[in-house]
Amino acid sequence: MCGIMGVIGGHDAVPALIDGLQHLSYRGYDAAGVAVFNGEHIQIRKTAGSLDKLKTLLSGQPVRGDVGIGHTRWATHGAPTDCNAHPHTDARERIAVVHNGIIENERALRLQLAAEGVEFRSQTDTEVVAHLVAKYLKETCDLHCALRKAIEAIVGAYALVVMSVDEPDRLYAARKDSPLVIGLSAGTGRGQKAPLQFGETGQSPALNGAGYIASDIPALLPYTREIILLEDGDVARVQRDSVTIWDRSDTIVLRESKTIHWDQEAADKGDHITFMEKEMDEQPDAAARLLEAPLLQAAIPERVVFVACGSAYHAALIGRQYFAQLAGIPSEVEVASEFRYESPLPLNNAMCLAVSQSGETADTLAAMRQAKLRGARAVAIVNVQDSSIAREADAVQWMHAGPEIAVATTKGFTTQVLALLRIALEWGRRREWLTAGAARSWANDLNKLPELMREAIADTERARRFATAHIAPRLVFFIGRGLDTPTAMEGALKLKEISYQHAAAYAAGELKHGPIALIEIDVLVIALCTQRELLPKTISNIREVKARGAYVLALCQRRDEAALKQAADEVWTLPDAPDALMPLLAVLPLQRLAYEVALLRGCSVDKPRNLAKSVTVE
Ligand code: F6R
Repeated sequence: MCGIMGVIGGHDAVPALIDGLQHLSYRGYDAAGVAVFNGEHIQIRKTAGSLDKLKTLLSGQPVRGDVGIGHTRWATHGAPTDCNAHPHTDARERIAVVHNGIIENERALRLQLAAEGVEFRSQTDTEVVAHLVAKYLKETCDLHCALRKAIEAIVGAYALVVMSVDEPDRLYAARKDSPLVIGLSAGTGRGQKAPLQFGETGQSPALNGAGYIASDIPALLPYTREIILLEDGDVARVQRDSVTIWDRSDTIVLRESKTIHWDQEAADKGDHITFMEKEMDEQPDAAARLLEAPLLQAAIPERVVFVACGSAYHAALIGRQYFAQLAGIPSEVEVASEFRYESPLPLNNAMCLAVSQSGETADTLAAMRQAKLRGARAVAIVNVQDSSIAREADAVQWMHAGPEIAVATTKGFTTQVLALLRIALEWGRRREWLTAGAARSWANDLNKLPELMREAIADTERARRFATAHIAPRLVFFIGRGLDTPTAMEGALKLKEISYQHAAAYAAGELKHGPIALIEIDVLVIALCTQRELLPKTISNIREVKARGAYVLALCQRRDEAALKQAADEVWTLPDAPDALMPLLAVLPLQRLAYEVALLRGCSVDKPRNLAKSVTVE
């Protein structure tokens, strides 16, 4: 989703802005721009398309100055055009604004401002903010007050950075439901938990001649590891030598700085041609790390309500079966965007379990808040430290996946599933739902998991051959039963999102209730057959689709290969393991298959069209 970078002091702004935006570009964007103060004016350069296009524009029409803001835009209000790209300015171009999020009352504000004589130049909600700030600046003659008044008028989610010709040595930032971090320049009071030095307000940490603002930490790592995370409702003023932060009640507050220890390298591709490939290959190590990590500290609930989106929703569907089978705990799984608007029945005694790699997914965050209001305890399974969901949850199980850059999740999904499996086993043991012997045998099986995952990942060549031979544009069905059903859903989602091949996933038993009408010669059915107890049933479903002309690829445990060879056209085997571990193994070749199809089709694997890594808008 959109990226924000702001810089004040220390060096030429443009290279730092472009570099910062580049580090955020994995989130997906369709336009980019910068605004730089050149000592007299704010100069804007912006364009639809890539950062490379912006660089070309800047080399033809350079801008210089050490104060600037930059943005990569993922279109919400208005098409991805030059004119809709950020930064946006007021009529006199004395104020420039970049914005992530959505202003929900944009229409009303636009009409009101238009009635007051404002002429709009774009279709964006962000331009409304620029005009609002300008209007209040005229009234108050103080940018902080003007921004405060503007955000009081706004309904919606925002991370905003504002610069003004009238206060050229300051950048202002404000956040609500959309992340924003401040970077303190390197070498200044690393790791201190108190204000680094007293600034003019008596509360602000001092900088070393340069300050930074960004929508995510990777943008700042080349410059500093000393970070302040703004909280919802905060307004910050960043100057060359100090940062001042006001909370939602407009009181100056101290926000502790944190030292970021993870490496930029972890967020680089290394020898891989794509982030997705690197992240697929990292899955066994990520699993090993998670198996060593501390387990969630939370009282065992009577009932669980999962809220999640996309792949995290699929992980939750697997979690639901784990909780039932291994811990005897009932649960429901809700798509977060639906849950937040459903009827507000009480959730007393329930645990809301929010599953989110980024910890910033707007719908999941809103659903978790809604569940809390309805009386649930909020627990989250999250990868990104200090993300909004992690901060608002009562307890967190970290995924330990390391930075996930590719838009399509891989190691995020498998670590979510593994975290859920570990929690289910722990609760099952504590509730004596599992016998002591079963718990011991599970501990043994989990120890073998990273090695089993390495085996399951291995066959890239086979995936490539299959992709070449069988995935011409045709109907592709993924089917499965039990734990194979959500895995099938995840396989279909991966194929759709990165290769643009339509695919549908069904519980195999559902086929004859409608979808089987679509089965004919040339349809490809990928049948997940890893759940041994359900194998005879799934084999019957394979025979039904084969009888109608489908080509069937079956995935099964090695020990079932002979049985599947009689039913399917092609069989891929996975290591033998307990059925409950199979989603963690079966998804690996499905990810690889989607990846190979995407490569063959020349798709942008890491940044598929129309998608964003962290979906911070509704
Ligand atoms: C699919 C994918 C998305 C995310 C979804 C939730 O590959 O990445 O479907 O799973 O947007 O994201 P998080 O887990 O960050 O809440």
